[in-house]
Amino acid sequence: MSSKITLIVGSPRKKRSCNFLIDNAIEGIKSVSNEITINKIFITDFKITPCNGCDQCLRPPNDCPLAENDDTKKLENSILDSDAIIIAAPNYFGSVSSQIKVFIDRSRPWKMKNYLLKDIILAPMASTGLRNAGEGVISDLINFALIQGMICVGSLGNPVIEENIAITTLQKYNLKEFIGKEEVDSLAGKIAYNQGKRVAELLFKIKK
Ligand SMILES: Cc1cc2nc3c(=O)[nH]c(=O)nc-3n(C[C@H](O)[C@H](O)[C@H](O)COP(=O)(O)O)c2cc1C
Repeated sequence: MSSKITLIVGSPRKKRSCNFLIDNAIEGIKSVSNEITINKIFITDFKITPCNGCDQCLRPPNDCPLAENDDTKKLENSILDSDAIIIAAPNYFGSVSSQIKVFIDRSRPWKMKNYLLKDIILAPMASTGLRNAGEGVISDLINFALIQGMICVGSLGNPVIEENIAITTLQKYNLKEFIGKEEVDSLAGKIAYNQGKRVAELLFKIKK
């Protein structure tokens, strides 16, 4: 069985919290199988022009005129053949980063071409500055998935004490302090690992 999982670092900063979550998810995937193709991409490497609302994607052939002058075709080639997509997006004012929002908006033609993302698994993750602040990001990603006909997946750890969605925060628990440059939110890393693992396990079950 050949499977491909695309993991998207949704921050303009390549090596920070979103990347930490994605790298942990990759380890979780690898714990299930080394045969799965892992396609890690940084959204900031792609030039994606903001949607201008021309609505041309509503009419056949449902293409976006902006795609002639940016990297969305490249993005399309990189991700549309995936069985699962894992997105880690930073919390910017309660929502996803502008890079991820533009990506979501410009995915509209894929919907209009009769749901090209249909039945692909989507695992949402978020990074935030402040504690308890990532839900808006997760909600944005879940809405994206549901509107595109995708299958949303969280992590399955200990049902009593483990969260089901990886949200990493820079703020230390119970302190007006932020984690240092060399420190990580190891709990969120574990959830991200479990979320990656869960995606891979589910893929095997679905594709059996
Ligand atoms: C423009 C901007 C807006 C932000 N807004 C919030 C916010 O509303 N709440 C919050 O907790 N963190 C906020 N942050 C902090 C980021 O969510 C946090 O630094 C996150 O870890 C960034 O992910 P990264 O390290 O992968 O880039 C904001 C950061 C920026 C740059």
